[in-house]
Amino acid sequence: MLSVENLHVRYGNIEALHGVSFTLERGEIVTLIGANGAGKTTTLHSIMRLPPPEAPRVTQGDIRFEGASILGVEPHDVVRRLGIGLVPEGRRIFGNLTVQENLTLATYARKDDSAAVQQDLGRVFELFPRLKERQRQLADSLSGGEQQMLAVGRALMSRCEVILLDEPSMGLAPLLMFDMFRTLKHLNEEGLTILVVEQNAKVALDFAHRGYVMDTGAIVAEGTSAELRADPSVKKAYLGG
Ligand SMILES: Nc1ncnc2c1ncn2[C@@H]1O[C@H](COP(=O)(O)OP(=O)(O)O)[C@@H](O)[C@H]1O
Ligand SMILES: [Mg+2]
Repeated sequence: MLSVENLHVRYGNIEALHGVSFTLERGEIVTLIGANGAGKTTTLHSIMRLPPPEAPRVTQGDIRFEGASILGVEPHDVVRRLGIGLVPEGRRIFGNLTVQENLTLATYARKDDSAAVQQDLGRVFELFPRLKERQRQLADSLSGGEQQMLAVGRALMSRCEVILLDEPSMGLAPLLMFDMFRTLKHLNEEGLTILVVEQNAKVALDFAHRGYVMDTGAIVAEGTSAELRADPSVKKAYLGG
């Protein structure tokens, strides 16, 4: 479905990715794990085709979706036409808007009627009942876990078929984290394809079917979650021995 091929990208004169390759098939949960600064966010922003300075410049390689290069695709078309949604690092929700406003904001660009928006909103509230209970509250008043649910819900409002999650576990208490991954697993069973990047290798490998390990702008290991968990170098560097 998605393939990143020998991707080299630069911020100014500094190369941040040095030939990254990986694939994501429809229906899969794939993780990219790596330490802070490995290039995980850069990889996701490159796929979303975000404009500079947010996203780096691709200097070599390709990103293909259903076989066709997306390097020339506009960011809004990545979301609307290709159906790829991003849940950004640190959630980036609007704290001074209500839960419902955060969810419907993304749909303003959509040419749909409001009935379709209401239907999507209903689906998000079904998945995340806590967001429904809090729909009229300011997003700032939500807990970290609820804010993460809101960020996922917002991505789903764009009717994406693939969701890219940037460190969703960050800052969440363990129970909220398991709750969130359980909901994401459920979404995957319903057909959502998931690419998740994480510093927390343990939770990422428990959640994903397979994964890749990134280190300073390159992929250094890959395999099924079981294979990566058993890999001595992965254990040593990312799983605490
Ligand atoms: N906007 C930017 N401008 C310049 N360098 C950046 C920018 N964003 C990230 N980098 C650099 O690119 C490398 C990869 O960063 P990033 O993709 O954010 O890593 P990760 O998400 O794995 O922590 C780091 O060396 C970082 O300093
Ligand atoms: Mg990052």
